[in-house]
Amino acid sequence: MKYLIGIDVGTSGTKVILIDVNGKLIAKDLQEYALYTPRPGWAEQQPSDWWKAAVKGIKNVIKDVNVSDVAAIGLSGQMHGLVALDKNNRVLRPSILWCDQRTVEQCEYITKTIGAERLKKLVYNPALTGFTAGKILWMRDNEPVLYRKIAKVLLPKDYIRFKLTGKFATEVSDASGMLLLDVKNRRWSKTVLKELNIPESMLAVCFESEEISGHVTSEAAKVTGLKAGTPVGGGGGDQAASAIGCGVVENGIISVTIGTSGVVFAFSDIVKLDKKGRIHTFCHAVKNKWHTMGVMLSAGGALKWFKDTLCKEEVALAVKKKVDPYDIILQGLEKIPPGSENLIFLPYLSGERSPYADPYARGVFMGLGQNHTKKHMTRAVLEGVAFGLRDTVEVMRSLKIPVKEIRVTGGGARSKLWLQILADILGQEVVTVNMTEGGAFGVALLAGVGAGVYEDISKVCKKLIKTKKGAKPNKVNAGIYNKYYKVYRKTYFNLKDEFKELADLPHK
Ligand code: XUL
Repeated sequence: MKYLIGIDVGTSGTKVILIDVNGKLIAKDLQEYALYTPRPGWAEQQPSDWWKAAVKGIKNVIKDVNVSDVAAIGLSGQMHGLVALDKNNRVLRPSILWCDQRTVEQCEYITKTIGAERLKKLVYNPALTGFTAGKILWMRDNEPVLYRKIAKVLLPKDYIRFKLTGKFATEVSDASGMLLLDVKNRRWSKTVLKELNIPESMLAVCFESEEISGHVTSEAAKVTGLKAGTPVGGGGGDQAASAIGCGVVENGIISVTIGTSGVVFAFSDIVKLDKKGRIHTFCHAVKNKWHTMGVMLSAGGALKWFKDTLCKEEVALAVKKKVDPYDIILQGLEKIPPGSENLIFLPYLSGERSPYADPYARGVFMGLGQNHTKKHMTRAVLEGVAFGLRDTVEVMRSLKIPVKEIRVTGGGARSKLWLQILADILGQEVVTVNMTEGGAFGVALLAGVGAGVYEDISKVCKKLIKTKKGAKPNKVNAGIYNKYYKVYRKTYFNLKDEFKELADLPHK
């Protein structure tokens, strides 16, 4: 039997899976690491932590198989992060992550230098603080000595690729989030690079996601236990990879992922642009296909923040009972009525990307009263995240992107209540899928295509990935939520200026 490995370099940890060629999960490992926030709105991680996690994970999943039977390895990871290497391939500074908001000035500079309309034509997206180009310019503006030492810029998963294969390579889906890729033609935009004065030599070679980008070196083989020469596929940014992992390979199928971030992802045969820049237009990990996508910065991340900050007792109880803390935190929430008795939560804890592109937005509990308990606040968090996801679904509906089937994945899909809230708030049935390993599974399949195990990514997805029951909207609750959604939206617009004013106040 042949096997495939999928590695997903996430924000909370790196997941490694081993599957057989029939898609059966054989082994799985998760290694967690720290996220550093040296200032409000900043978010960094150490690439060496990712590598250590990947090595441990690989060792753990291959220990019971013959490594000669591993046909290929796929890489997925958090998008947009900047890994800067010097000419000796040393990491110059901690990686600046997707949810970091420090590049407001650089994004303004990019928009002024290239022009908002030209940006859309050249790279199909506006300059947003999460994207990588602004981070490169931030180093140029703020860390000139380090900047001058940069020889290569890599994305998180591509750093792991470099450690495994010695190759500087990326692929179209992740590269789309750098703001330096001509998304339509699937190659670096020479015009944007020239006008921003970023040398193309700084960037990696860009592959299609299913192409083989390199092979495990003997040095990496020694460290990981893999066989030298094992092919490493192009892979995908975590969202495109996870869309493959739940079978978003044709028009009309939308995925909603509730992980740290919250993502609504739609397949597209053509390059579809939102002229207002509320959602992104990126290359899909399927050859010559694209996708539109809206990204909330804090979805599962908002619930995690709530757990870590306000649920210490529940966490302690969970440790004692040896159960998942979320099981205790979410217990009994179905008894609270939709709308959490007039409580609304805005989940913008790290600012928001889609649809507002507002780095200054912050979290809000609106409407707190004497009647509210911690349980109400918990339910309001689940509802606030679902309202945020509806914002993107509404943009897609308004752009006539067909929303025929909504497949929910990520940690949030494990909660029946969250699925029900989502169905009620979106006013449409949601389903789940039989394969729950997300991006790691998606890139394992893509690597399988590259290695010749499978003929075609869409075919293998359709063969292996089946939908399962999720939740159907309850008409009465959907009606109630429509009313709450209106207030949810107004709350953001009414607070927009104050968010900025607040951000400008002294914080130390
Ligand atoms: C996608 C995005 C996030 C990160 C982390 O544009 O920013 O989904 O990839 O998961």
